[in-house]
Amino acid sequence: MIVALNNKSNLDCQEFQHYQEELKKIKTNETLILCPTFLNLGQFSSDTISLGSQNVSSRGNGAFTGEVSALQLKSYGAKYAIIGHSERREYQKESLEEIHEKLLRLLENDITPILCIGETREEREQGRVEEVLEQEILTAIEGMSEEDRARMIVAYEPIWSIGTGIIPTNQEIEEVFQFIKTFLPKASILYGGSANEENIDQLNQISLIDGYLLGGLSLKVEKLKIFLQKLEK
Ligand code: 13P
Repeated sequence: MIVALNNKSNLDCQEFQHYQEELKKIKTNETLILCPTFLNLGQFSSDTISLGSQNVSSRGNGAFTGEVSALQLKSYGAKYAIIGHSERREYQKESLEEIHEKLLRLLENDITPILCIGETREEREQGRVEEVLEQEILTAIEGMSEEDRARMIVAYEPIWSIGTGIIPTNQEIEEVFQFIKTFLPKASILYGGSANEENIDQLNQISLIDGYLLGGLSLKVEKLKIFLQKLEK
């Protein structure tokens, strides 16, 4: 399974050094992907954990102040990049078209995109889950080859579940995963949103899940170890 760790905007320089030493002690057969902030990305080195970023510029190198290009990420050893996280869609007002451009920049540089999609509580209550997800998926992957689609990772992160301690029922997750597979039958699909060492036993019953995108738990190494142990059961 894939376990991607989204540190979000956490850990300063010293904290990150300590954190990565602790992380490296973890013994697991799962594929761990660490996505630190851009600043900490250059500090990371590991033979067993892969490196990912939390974002990428929708453009290449050039006069784009404050942006980090896919080419730069690649030179720092990033193999994966999260795009379209709901926090960026909300706070940075990232558009569907921008996310599509980011996806293209990543593929041009052999970086695997981890495309985040998910609905709000309101959208779920209005019965609009499939409509929202379909739009997020189709605009992102427009024009992509079958081969590139198969390389992608999708993270289903219901917005109402992120950081709230509330997770969907297994049936709700299964329905969404089946739906995603109608567009991307070969892509890996992760679940994200309050996944932790306590609810992993329940989530683990869902055979369609290829892995997890962890926010809060990524920062708690001891609890992360328990999560990984339970995942391997
Ligand atoms: P939490 O695990 O803190 O709910 O965050 C999920 C997430 O947004 C990962 O990208």
